[in-house]
Amino acid sequence: MIQDTNIENRKSIGQDQEEVIAIKDLCKSFDDNHVLNGFNMTLYKGENLVVMGKSGSGKSVMIKCLVGLMKPDSGTIHVMGKNILELSHAELDDVRADIGFLFQGSALYDSMTVRENLEFPLRRHTERFGPDMNTDDLILEALENVGLAHTLDLMPSELSGGMKRRVALARTLILRPKIILYDEPTSGLDPITSKEIIILMQDIQKKYGTSSLIITHDVDCARVISERMILLIDGTNYVTGNFKELEASKDPKIMAFFKH
Ligand SMILES: Nc1ncnc2c1ncn2[C@@H]1O[C@H](COP(=O)(O)OP(=O)(O)OP(=O)(O)O)[C@@H](O)[C@H]1O
Ligand SMILES: [Mg+2]
Repeated sequence: MIQDTNIENRKSIGQDQEEVIAIKDLCKSFDDNHVLNGFNMTLYKGENLVVMGKSGSGKSVMIKCLVGLMKPDSGTIHVMGKNILELSHAELDDVRADIGFLFQGSALYDSMTVRENLEFPLRRHTERFGPDMNTDDLILEALENVGLAHTLDLMPSELSGGMKRRVALARTLILRPKIILYDEPTSGLDPITSKEIIILMQDIQKKYGTSSLIITHDVDCARVISERMILLIDGTNYVTGNFKELEASKDPKIMAFFKH
């Protein structure tokens, strides 16, 4: 695990600097509630970027703007080079197909088996795999990635919380996204299960070279998974750095995040 990979270091060692997401000067208000007030963020190819911000700071608003579910008041958002604020619905759908989401609470369909839950996104995106698509193979491979091949015919109610989260991750992976957005991937899980999920996230990044944006309150998760972190405070990217740099800060606003 490379710990010291802030952007200055990356540039100096000449690593790949391809930007997969670039958000510039994003502003979004709801009446007098100025939620985002000039937020900037770049996600580089293959990196794990953590965004931390306290409850109500605008993390979900930022993600919704990023995937075109909410329109910002001003600012620009590029995903894989495309200005998503200027795309047609069809073009936006194309971009979204490259983005996987792991939402808080897993959001599996309770009335469907594990197999059917994984089949669902495949059926909506058959074009990604062409006419030779072998659904059974794809489902099995996705479940093997999360160590749950034996749960194919179980119902979500028969799985533990950690298993559900892993099935949700398999469902996200099955479309081979280039970018994965994780919203609180470890919330509600005990520390051991959280660690298992974090290890899986790292394995997936290594295996598929995905770029990950991780929103979390979990300092331990951020410590292990982040190569860079952004703290979203007062509607802006208050500070960017690696975990060690931010943890060592004497700024009270930054210190507040690292107090246990
Ligand atoms: N559709 C909306 N209409 C009005 N206000 C909204 C809307 N969506 C979000 N907000 C407001 O924007 C602010 C930021 O909300 P957001 O959901 O982004 O917070 P968050 O950082 O994701 O918090 P949490 O960690 O609790 O998920 C809140 O004050 C919220 O009330
Ligand atoms: Mg939120």
